[in-house]
Amino acid sequence: MIIGVLNQKGGVGKTTVAINLAASLARSGERVLLVDADPQGSAMAWSSTRESEPPFAVVGMAKPTLHRDLPRLAGNYDVVIVDGAPRVNELGRSAILASDTVLIPVQPSPYDVWAAADTVQLIREARQMKENLKAAFVINRRIARTAIGRDAAAALAQFDEIPVLAAVLNQRIVYAESAARGLSVIEAAPTSEAAREIDALAQEVFGSRKRKAA
Ligand SMILES: Nc1ncnc2c1ncn2[C@@H]1O[C@H](COP(=O)(O)OP(=O)(O)O)[C@@H](O)[C@H]1O
Ligand SMILES: [Mg+2]
Repeated sequence: MIIGVLNQKGGVGKTTVAINLAASLARSGERVLLVDADPQGSAMAWSSTRESEPPFAVVGMAKPTLHRDLPRLAGNYDVVIVDGAPRVNELGRSAILASDTVLIPVQPSPYDVWAAADTVQLIREARQMKENLKAAFVINRRIARTAIGRDAAAALAQFDEIPVLAAVLNQRIVYAESAARGLSVIEAAPTSEAAREIDALAQEVFGSRKRKAA
């Protein structure tokens, strides 16, 4: 299964979601490959900041031929997670076409909701070629005890072909702090609320597939 974490907007949490989802799935015993498809190389930098090997494989592959090259690599893994690049371009298109499921992190702000239209358009185009491409929004950086996460979910309902996942990631310092040390939140703070919400996201994205396979 290839999961693309994509959004044409920068700073929405693609790398944060990709790394932490990879860590959660690896801890459940899946063989995970994280593909850094962003020329900026944030996931590669994260990996090289670490003192120990990451609990999953990490490769850099910021190429517009990703959709052609990835299936060959993917055979060696249970799940491949693609950390996508911002901007609408060939890299973004290739990453979407490479994916079975696209997760679109969005922050609960009107700007992010408006900007999501670009990514939705790419998904629509990709679905012309790849009918059963799945996609879902993930609300990231919700501020706890505010209505803004719910408002964003309601506004995203305008894109009626793309559901909003029930799992939500809140704004939490541990996401940035752990990244600075080259760790996932599950490694840095295994009993934290952040680790719990990442596991819930992994369960929602991947759990149903496992039940089907069983
Ligand atoms: N849920 C969160 N809580 C706190 N900080 C976050 C959260 N998600 C992302 N961040 C921070 O926001 C910044 C942008 O996130 P990043 O994952 O790099 O976005 P992208 O890959 O889409 O550009 C990073 O500094 C990251 O640590
Ligand atoms: Mg990034």
